[in-house]
Amino acid sequence: MNSRAATLNETATAAPFVHEGIAYGCDYNPEQWGPETWTDDVRLMREAGVDLVAINIFGWSHLEPRAGEYDFATLDTIIELLHANGIRVNLGTGTSSPPPWLTTLHPEMLPVTAEGTTRFPGGRQAWCPSSAVFREHALALVEKVAERYGHHPAVALWHVSNELGCHNALCYCDDTAAAFRLWLEARYGTIDALNAAWGTSFWSQRYGEWAEILTPRLTLSSRNPGQMLDFHRFSSAELLDYYRLEAAVLRRHSNVAVTTNFMVTAHIRNLDYWSWAGDMDIIANDHYLDHRLADPAIELAFAADLTRGLAQGEPWLLMEQATGAVNWQPHNLAKVPGEMTRNSLAHVARGADGICFFQWRASLQGSEKFHSALVPHAGTDTVLWREVVALGATLDRLVEVAGSRVVADAAIIFSWEAWWAGDGESRPSHAVRYLDQVHAAYTALHQLGVTVDIVSPDADFSAYRLVVAPCLYLISDEQARNLGSYVAAGGHALITFFSGIVDEDDRVRSGGYPGAFRELLGITVEEFSPLLPGHVLTLDSGAAASLWSERLRVDTAEVVANYLDGPLPGIPAITRNGHRSGTAWYVATALEPGALRNLMRTIAEEARVTAVGPESAGTIEVVRRVNATGSYLFIINHGHDDVELPASGHELVVGEPIGRVVRVPAGAVRVIREDPAS
Ligand code: GAL
Repeated sequence: MNSRAATLNETATAAPFVHEGIAYGCDYNPEQWGPETWTDDVRLMREAGVDLVAINIFGWSHLEPRAGEYDFATLDTIIELLHANGIRVNLGTGTSSPPPWLTTLHPEMLPVTAEGTTRFPGGRQAWCPSSAVFREHALALVEKVAERYGHHPAVALWHVSNELGCHNALCYCDDTAAAFRLWLEARYGTIDALNAAWGTSFWSQRYGEWAEILTPRLTLSSRNPGQMLDFHRFSSAELLDYYRLEAAVLRRHSNVAVTTNFMVTAHIRNLDYWSWAGDMDIIANDHYLDHRLADPAIELAFAADLTRGLAQGEPWLLMEQATGAVNWQPHNLAKVPGEMTRNSLAHVARGADGICFFQWRASLQGSEKFHSALVPHAGTDTVLWREVVALGATLDRLVEVAGSRVVADAAIIFSWEAWWAGDGESRPSHAVRYLDQVHAAYTALHQLGVTVDIVSPDADFSAYRLVVAPCLYLISDEQARNLGSYVAAGGHALITFFSGIVDEDDRVRSGGYPGAFRELLGITVEEFSPLLPGHVLTLDSGAAASLWSERLRVDTAEVVANYLDGPLPGIPAITRNGHRSGTAWYVATALEPGALRNLMRTIAEEARVTAVGPESAGTIEVVRRVNATGSYLFIINHGHDDVELPASGHELVVGEPIGRVVRVPAGAVRVIREDPAS
């Protein structure tokens, strides 16, 4: 079979993932231990209430020790053992890391970096997404796994590969270049159309033949931005194509739901998950706290809300997180007691119907031996193990929450394409980073107690009272119209600086910035005026700002605040424009967090956005999940003081009736099944 031929049309009907209550699980890599440990493992899994276990994620070298020779004995035993203990299996296809014999036979499948250097085996995921030989061998393994376990009653979910693109999303080898050219031909049809899209008339970059086009390996100068953007699009599509190939094999042998684990987490940006989401039978995400960020818990909430956005509001699974420290950040902080539970329930509050971890038992060897696990090196007479067991019991008490949905009044537009293009090599300020600006907008709403959906620029905004577009540098005409029509019909929008600048080819919209939104915002920006790091501006509203300013003039908008100092004193920095029945606000600078929160409060009040929780520095998270019969109020207290909030109903974590006020101790979580009237 030509592996490249099987795309979209071969993926058959989706199958639902069915699980009673909130799933509790982990990655399990039993190959590291012998059978006595396996018996002990399942006993402990039962003690903790673990009911969904991901296995065979890195199984290839065990299942196929030599080319074409398969050995399923260990996997059979593990599956039967889990099944006999009532533990459901999230079955990996086993293809995420090729065995050494394969890379020895076919070194041409190894990925190549932007410098043109081959990345060698010895780590993991050492394969080029476009490699035909990799695809052939991987799909042969999937066929065997699917054939053998496709109807096994323990198999609850298929787990395709693992974190596709975690390390190998961008490969610059010759096979990739050939696949890139095919993708470009399909996108543009003619070389002239490609030249027009990439603006190759500049710097003598005009292509005469498809064969002249390469992957964007490192150059002496900055690289062509159109080529870079398309390379990102292609690379995301290439791995999605690979996912579809595996999924198609699985669906031929099984009716069980198929998914793979996304990486909606702060430092990964290479896959456009809006284009992937529709292929998943259930959305699953891996999330790790990133202690390099100012507030990792707020980023967790953002990632969970974005994951729910990818799931179109449906419940989703947290496929991986850590019970404590990871081992891949410069400083790997342990979680304090209670933090794992708070983080887990924050994911549930934001729509997760499953909480899983990497990994079950801490490795004694290998690269991840200092990564936390459910069973730590120190064993089960530990604070951590007791919390693991308690979390299982808590999730059991939340059984009725499963299937309910989060409803939000506000949305933030998020775009991988805008991220790729806006954070490109030649840009006005390298201090302006897309994700920072999205996080800033999210943090302001989070601290106001507002629940936010994270949505694609193509989403239907009509259900929202407020839509925020932070630094949305790239936007298509159609997407710009989508936001414009939402405001025209009575919606409220806040757009922040460096938005609406280019079209989908990264071509500047001429006539003044922000080209796509000039009319909507009633302003024209003549010139960007970025600031040096550390330079703080003051506005006449008293607000402080940094990073960016713009020579802006109002057309139809009213001025809300001007710069007092900096390069543009007296020039408007915040504007508000009535557009048909709605209102569009613009902020031309990076307001410091308190000022952004104040502005967001004003806009949210004007838009009549309901805050579900109280205003806090992010220490109190309140989110509501609703279903046909009622609603559940999650209150997560990350702070050091007990809090009291109005609520009435029945509390599920400790199991007590709540009259009018619920007390949430410092560091605790409460989930209230609300009385219908509340
Ligand atoms: C994920 C991966 C797991 C494990 C984990 C550690 O990226 O899927 O296999 O490596 O990170 O944090």
